[in-house]
Amino acid sequence: MREKIPLEMATRLLNHGPLVLISSTWEDKIDFTPIAWHMPVSKVPPIVAFTISEEHFIYKCILNSKDFAVNIPSADIIREIIQCGTESGADVDKLKATGLVAELSRVIKAPVLKSAIAVLECTLLEDKYLLEHYNIVLGEVKYAEIEPLAFDGHWLFKNQDLKTVHHLGDMTFAVPADDVIDLR
Ligand SMILES: Cc1cc2nc3c(=O)[nH]c(=O)nc-3n(C[C@H](O)[C@H](O)[C@H](O)COP(=O)(O)O)c2cc1C
Repeated sequence: MREKIPLEMATRLLNHGPLVLISSTWEDKIDFTPIAWHMPVSKVPPIVAFTISEEHFIYKCILNSKDFAVNIPSADIIREIIQCGTESGADVDKLKATGLVAELSRVIKAPVLKSAIAVLECTLLEDKYLLEHYNIVLGEVKYAEIEPLAFDGHWLFKNQDLKTVHHLGDMTFAVPADDVIDLR
């Protein structure tokens, strides 16, 4: 069971650049879309940024509903993630197509991925310039949670089921090794 972490720790969940599934809604539709291009922007308040094509249905969902969740999945659902990244939620019910399961979020409208290792619930920060020029979507994290076995103030990768997946380009991916260098 994921557990809440302090908001000032939220951007830590993205420090190492995991592939994420962004979820959001448009009327009665739910979309889950993989996004590799993201970054933390501010620690307090916690703000994150994503580059998302305006052609993607998830972009329209976010602009319409004004919120979204950042779901950090484990590597063992990589095939389902790729399926979500090769079809559009405008045409396909990705949950039905993949068998992935959504559940209610805590503080936003968008649902979250039940099997996610970690989730950041965000509200859209509308910056017209960044949206129009670079398709950069900014979100303020309002709530964050993670599986306790995967986090000790930073990610832990000891548990095989709790390893994030990282997009190297095309259809190549990597998972983190166990050897975190802890100099605390
Ligand atoms: C591994 C992977 C990473 C991706 N990263 C991004 C990204 O960073 N930004 C983006 O706009 N699209 C990215 N995509 C493409 C979208 O996920 C894909 O076009 C998706 O089908 C759009 O679905 P939608 O129309 O339901 O939003 C990625 C796809 C994959 C498979």
